[in-house]
Amino acid sequence: MDINELKEEAQQALEDISDPKYLESLRIKYLGRKGEVTQILRSLSKKSLAERKKVGKAANQIKQELNHLFDIKLKELKAATDQQINLDITQPGARVQLGHLHPLTQVENQIRKIFQDLNFSVIEGPEVESSYNNFDALNIPADHPARDMWDTFWLKDFDNLLLRTHTSPMQVRYMRENKPPFQIIVPGRVFRYEATDASHEINFYQFEGLMVGDDVSLANFKYVVGEFFKKFFNKEVKIRFRPSYFPFTEPSVEVDIQIPGKKDWLEVMGAGLVHPNVLKAVGYNPKHYQGFAFGGGVDRLAMLKYGIDDVRLFYNGDVRFIQQF
Ligand code: PHE
Repeated sequence: MDINELKEEAQQALEDISDPKYLESLRIKYLGRKGEVTQILRSLSKKSLAERKKVGKAANQIKQELNHLFDIKLKELKAATDQQINLDITQPGARVQLGHLHPLTQVENQIRKIFQDLNFSVIEGPEVESSYNNFDALNIPADHPARDMWDTFWLKDFDNLLLRTHTSPMQVRYMRENKPPFQIIVPGRVFRYEATDASHEINFYQFEGLMVGDDVSLANFKYVVGEFFKKFFNKEVKIRFRPSYFPFTEPSVEVDIQIPGKKDWLEVMGAGLVHPNVLKAVGYNPKHYQGFAFGGGVDRLAMLKYGIDDVRLFYNGDVRFIQQF
């Protein structure tokens, strides 16, 4: 090979190297005792004086240049590995951002846990419901003015299907399939066709409670609801029932609570004894069974617990809000 080609080949090989391990074998290949440049220099003794002068000079020059290039490359590679090794372990690290459960999920989980401890089963149901389960079976026939209490999203291309306006249709579904005695809660997402403001969302979360047996009374409910709020707020909370109206309970009440140290009574749940018409609709004999039902808002309780004044904050996806919980 021509000596200049040899030089180019060596230079190219040197450039391609990124691991110092291979640098030494490359040096031996070209500049070692039996290396290609060395051999050219050795073979000079057999050449004529003129050629010896010409090729010898060039070969020596190339040898020097290559030696120099090897030294530079070695320094480069060493500097690169030093940089990897010279970690400053005292430098503050980059914080890894961990995700966590949404405040509404946290509150819902807490509600589930408290009721489970009170021996309630947790049941879930569909968000798309029949108008029969959402209304008719709950003693709200089509022409009943009480339907206006629940502004409804109807499904466009399906007769009589809607987005459930409350978790109460799960009372109907559960009672149709099960025999008393039982006690359940049903957390779930509900929908209302309403204008949104600080206390109204078109989508929010409720938890339904239902306990049915031979002689379940409102007094039993008062105990359960008292235990629930005591555990939820971790305080002795005052409870008050106010007469109210729901088509599916009789009598119906609103549950108000007063948190210690606060003067306002807060409306937190609707409740009552399951209406005989509802019991009949699911095939129960109202002379035989009775029970209480209640419905509360997960969002509402989360707002009270954390002092949040706008329900929309739960849904706008702003991590500065979410990260506080
Ligand atoms: N479903 C009612 C609502 O959404 C609440 C409720 C549930 C009232 C059970 C009484 C009994 O307003």
